[in-house]
Order: sequence, then C-alpha cells, then structure tokens
Amino acid sequence: MIPAIYDVVKKLEFETVLDAFAGTGVVSYLFKRMDKQVLFNDHLHFNYIIGRAIIENSETRLTKADVDQILKPKPYEEHSHLIEEQFADIYYTNEENVWLDRVISNLYEMEPGYNQDLGFWCLFQSCITKRPFSLFHRRNLNLRTRNVKRSFGNKVTWDTPFDIHFKRFVEEVNGYIIKTKKSCHVLRSDVMQVPLNYFEQGFDLVYIDPPYIPKRGENIIYRDLYHFLEGITQYDEWESQIDSKSKHKRIKPLYNVWNDKKSITNVFTDMLDRYKNSTILLSHRSEGIPSTNDLLDMLNKKWTSVSIVNSIGHKYALSTRDSNEILILAHN
Ligand SMILES: C[S@@+](CC[C@H](N)C(=O)[O-])C[C@H]1O[C@@H](n2cnc3c(N)ncnc32)[C@H](O)[C@@H]1O
Repeated sequence: MIPAIYDVVKKLEFETVLDAFAGTGVVSYLFKRMDKQVLFNDHLHFNYIIGRAIIENSETRLTKADVDQILKPKPYEEHSHLIEEQFADIYYTNEENVWLDRVISNLYEMEPGYNQDLGFWCLFQSCITKRPFSLFHRRNLNLRTRNVKRSFGNKVTWDTPFDIHFKRFVEEVNGYIIKTKKSCHVLRSDVMQVPLNYFEQGFDLVYIDPPYIPKRGENIIYRDLYHFLEGITQYDEWESQIDSKSKHKRIKPLYNVWNDKKSITNVFTDMLDRYKNSTILLSHRSEGIPSTNDLLDMLNKKWTSVSIVNSIGHKYALSTRDSNEILILAHN
C-alpha cells in the first residue's frame, strides 16, 4: 500500500501527521522520509519499541560491539529459561528457544536506549521470519518440522539459524536510520487518548489504519497474533501473564473496543469526531465493518470533501477471500 499512500499524500499540504495505529511503522517511515513531523502511536509495547528504533531514532545505528554484546555466548545457568520451559514444541525448536532466552537476557543487560531498541527490532523481525504465516496464532511448529511436500511457505527461511537472520536484520535496520528536518516522536497510547495538542499546531493529517473487523468470521486481534513479541517486551512478568487456557500460550486477553463487533460503529464515530479538525486518510478493507458506505456517510457529516482515492485487490495471509484495500481521503 505504500506507493498508493504516497501517491495520495504527496499532493497534500501538511507538516504534522499522526499515524494513529502505527503497527510496523512503515507508513510513519514514509512520512518521515517526506520530512514531515510524525507522531507514531500504537498501544502495543513491541510496536512502540519498533517506533522508537526506526521513527524517533535518527542517528543511532547498531555497531559491531552492540551485535557482539547481544549475540555473546553465556553459560546456560546464567540466564532464564522461560521460553525453553513455557514454549517447548510450540513455535521454535528447543535449541532456538535456548538461543532466544540467552539473547533476550543479553538485550536486557544493555543500557535502555536506541541501541537496545534496534536490537529488539532485529530480534522481532528474526522471530517473525522464522514463523509459518509470520504469526503466533497456533501451536504449529510441526508445520515447519514435518517431512512433507509443502505448497506454501519457505522452509529454508524457517530453518535458517536465528544468528544469521539477526545479522541480516542488523544490516537492514542500519540502512533505515535517517536524519530528517523535523523531529519524529513515538507514543504508546490508546487512540482515544493521544493528546490533540501533542504538536503545537495539532495534527494536519491523521492516518487511520485500525484493526480489521470482518463481517463474518474471526477478528484480527494484533495482541493475540503477536503475543510472543509482546511477551518478550515484558520478559520478567511474561510467565504470570500467560493465558493457561490457550494451547498456544498467548498472553491473557485484554478487552479492546476496536475488536468488538457490537461497538465498532460507535467507536468509529467517536474517533472521527475526535480528529475532526484534521485531514483524514483512512485505510479500510471492503469486507470489513463498518461498511465502506457507512464510513463514507460518517465522514461526509464532518468533512466537506470525501472520496475513495485508491482501491486495490489484495489477498491476506490466512484469508481465503480476496478483498479490496481502500483508501479514503476526507478534508475541508
Ligand atoms: C492494521 S494494524 C496497523 C498497521 C500499520 N498501518 C502498518 O503499516 O504496519 C492496526 C494496529 O492498531 C493497533 N491498535 C489496536 N487497537 C488500538 C488502540 N485502541 N489504540 C492504539 N492502537 C491500537 C494494533 O496494535 C495494530 O498495530
């Protein structure tokens, strides 16, 4: 979607922008590259760390000394074995689980700051890359280890050792660090709590890409799908946070109104009301609720110019249906 988003925003006049559900930070990063003053916001802790690493940070890169520190060997007795004990045969092999416990212990020994954030970024990417479907939604290590002919995925990538992925991601992330004309910031907040005066002039533009709620079927709950990464960010409390009823050991669920089919229309109305003084760019899936028409109606009540500026057919991991990824622009 990035080229499609760029095509729209390059024609707009704006200086400040809120990426309200920033996730991986790719859209914030586009705005950063356009020299805008960006506020990256997401309620998950691992995303917040990602935001600090590549959006707020504009100078720090991982050095060889950092990488040596993060990957250094450590006697088995000198680090915790939480992942090895709690997640045996769920996501990674035993040897990989021991690697994770060791590297996380090394990361927590670093001074808090951008070097540590970058280290976590490389760890998260390595974890995702080695997972079938890039998710933690099921206890399915056997998809990787079973000796069968596969029609999907990339067994070579899944089986590539963590060390190799990690070092590749160090190269990658170091290439993303850029100094731009305006400072960029990161917040870990509920979308309804972001201070509207965070920047003196408010937000000229608000980019909204909320969790997708399908008309039928299961919701996409990011905290569940990526619970393993969220757990890494609270390693000391992780064990007590595991939902013992779930086979894949997710962290205990928290209510989020953005995953609630019954309230979603009201929530959208309240959110749009909150950001009514900004230009809105909204990403929406044609299969989702509220429907595209309902969204257009809501936007038309508050903005004078509302239009669908892009619509691209897209098929998502785990989805059997094609849907259209729609971009809606609303401004006065
Ligand atoms: C569709 S994803 C955003 C993807 C993002 N645009 C990207 O390019 O990676 C939705 C994001 O909303 C976040 N989120 C869910 N509920 C939230 C809330 N109440 N406040 C803030 N962020 C929330 C999730 O953690 C997730 O990262």
